[in-house]
Amino acid sequence: MTELRTAHTADLDIVTLTAARTLLDTVFGGDMTDQDWEHALGGIHALLWEDGELIGHASVVQRRVLHGGRALRTGYVEGVVVRADRRRRGHGAALMAALERVIRGGFELGALSATEEALGFYADRGWRRWQGLTWALTPLGIARTEEDDDGVFVLPLPEVPIDLTAELVCDWRDGDVW
Ligand SMILES: CC(C)(COP(=O)(O)OP(=O)(O)OC[C@H]1O[C@@H](n2cnc3c(N)ncnc32)[C@H](O)[C@@H]1OP(=O)(O)O)[C@@H](O)C(=O)NCCC(=O)NCCS
Repeated sequence: MTELRTAHTADLDIVTLTAARTLLDTVFGGDMTDQDWEHALGGIHALLWEDGELIGHASVVQRRVLHGGRALRTGYVEGVVVRADRRRRGHGAALMAALERVIRGGFELGALSATEEALGFYADRGWRRWQGLTWALTPLGIARTEEDDDGVFVLPLPEVPIDLTAELVCDWRDGDVW
């Protein structure tokens, strides 16, 4: 039996957080860093359990993304994984639906940086690939993030008009900025 739960990081015990980190390490291998994990904390997690085992995780945290002269309260999605032997059964879609509800109710924009493998997954859910230039606000000023141009997706919401061909600037953090 599968069960989907959502909870803030503050309400997850160490066993659950360790299971989530282990799942991310298993799926992403050496690409998963401590900073990547830190980026997934401090917001709402969607956790998918099957017979007591964690088989899926995703989270959404608040960031500021500058666009069209505004610093948008953005729900930034991190750590989206479904265990390899449980894919293409709708689990990823269920995790994302839970987070998209949070984004629609609590934020002005959704955003994420997709892996090559997940481009089709997000596009099929109505996420839009960014077509303009991406930037980051770094401690030394604004900087281009060319390597991220192709992977950034946004979930526009009705209240905030978005020009996908314009510029998108994320706030600063350690590790990968997008
Ligand atoms: C991306 C991922 C979370 C999708 O999980 P999933 O449980 O397989 O997704 P779902 O079964 O809910 O897929 C729903 C729909 O999304 C689309 N989709 C899912 N995976 C896809 C893929 N690899 N390529 C293209 N479309 C895909 C399909 O339309 C699919 O519906 P269908 O199976 O009826 O064709 C999973 O493949 C994964 O963990 N990948 C490795 C980690 C990763 O890259 N995460 C993304 C980080 S940004």
